[in-house]
Amino acid sequence: MKPIEIAKGIYDVGVNDWNIRDFHGHSTSMGTSYNAFLIMDSKIALIDTVKKNFSDDLIENISQIVDPKKIDVVISNHTEMDHSGALVQVMHQVGEDTPLFCSKMGQKNLDLHYHQPWNYHAVENGETLSLGRHTLSFIETRMLHWPDSMFTYLQDEKILFSSDAFGQHYAGLEKFDDRMTDDIMPHAKKYFANILLPYAPLITKLAEEITSMGLEISMICPDHGVIWRKDPGKIIDAYVRWSHQESIRKAVIIYDTMWHSTEKMANAVANGLNAENVSVYPMHARKWDRSDIMTEILDAQAVVVGSPTLNNGLFPTLSDFLTYMKGLKPKNKIGAAFGSYGWSGESVKLINQELAAMKFDLIDAGVRVQYVPDEKAIAACFELGKKIGQAMK
Ligand code: FEO
Repeated sequence: MKPIEIAKGIYDVGVNDWNIRDFHGHSTSMGTSYNAFLIMDSKIALIDTVKKNFSDDLIENISQIVDPKKIDVVISNHTEMDHSGALVQVMHQVGEDTPLFCSKMGQKNLDLHYHQPWNYHAVENGETLSLGRHTLSFIETRMLHWPDSMFTYLQDEKILFSSDAFGQHYAGLEKFDDRMTDDIMPHAKKYFANILLPYAPLITKLAEEITSMGLEISMICPDHGVIWRKDPGKIIDAYVRWSHQESIRKAVIIYDTMWHSTEKMANAVANGLNAENVSVYPMHARKWDRSDIMTEILDAQAVVVGSPTLNNGLFPTLSDFLTYMKGLKPKNKIGAAFGSYGWSGESVKLINQELAAMKFDLIDAGVRVQYVPDEKAIAACFELGKKIGQAMK
């Protein structure tokens, strides 16, 4: 990827990671990008870096604009290694004494990662830095995505460098939203559902703070994916909606099956939901990546989980998924369980315990079927689906 001038004298010098398909456990069907930004002014600033194995590409991109040695300030908005991994090489090229701006937690976390005696400048929330023509201000955004996260705002151009927030795992040569269709939104939604959802209350608060600050935004430059310049309000509105966990008349059925009994039950529950005009997403836990399932759950009103009983417990894919979902703290969901068993039959009880721990509204004790469901059992699953549909708004 060549440097792209995103505004006069401001460049994206980041890289595309075209072929990554597993980003620390998330499926990334379209790869991702690590965006980094160079601001040319009386003082030259670099905002964020890239993953370590792309260090040479970043240096090459910077070199197409300016000798890296001429960079006066390096800014780290976020310590996670997809954005700081190239810092060791960058600081070596730029000069080890170059001021490294970050949040207070950023200094702590960068030190814990890289153990280098860098010339840190830990900024206060709202602190500004003049580069000459441009002035930057720093906005603390703890837990979006790590305790160290911050935004950098370019005041005159009204450009927000937002780190992980508003990003998407998407590699492409189209770097702007106006070069894309709405097809980019599912990638943004997946990013939110799997990375930022636990911090939804903080996002709501941050959105209110930014509104009260009267911060005008002409462009949002996240560290992953496309830049929002055509309509930055669109992704901000989506974040407000997602962080409020607004849901639609939709149910996700996550299940696994050993001899197709729990699968037959899943299909009957789906038919019952469909009879109540609910959009239904049956998702086999071994066929779908957990990050794709979570993306569908974000705006679903109901989450229905089906597991066979295996060795007195849950089928492992459901244990995995329930653990994953619990960590992401989805809210305002109706929950229900079903499952087949041979002799002991603990799965429904175990699912209910997990859903209750997530504060889901359990509207039924669930349906258990021994071995293979007969007509009566299928009818009970259909009725469960209907009952869930009737409980929805
Ligand atoms: Fe893209 Fe939290 O790093």
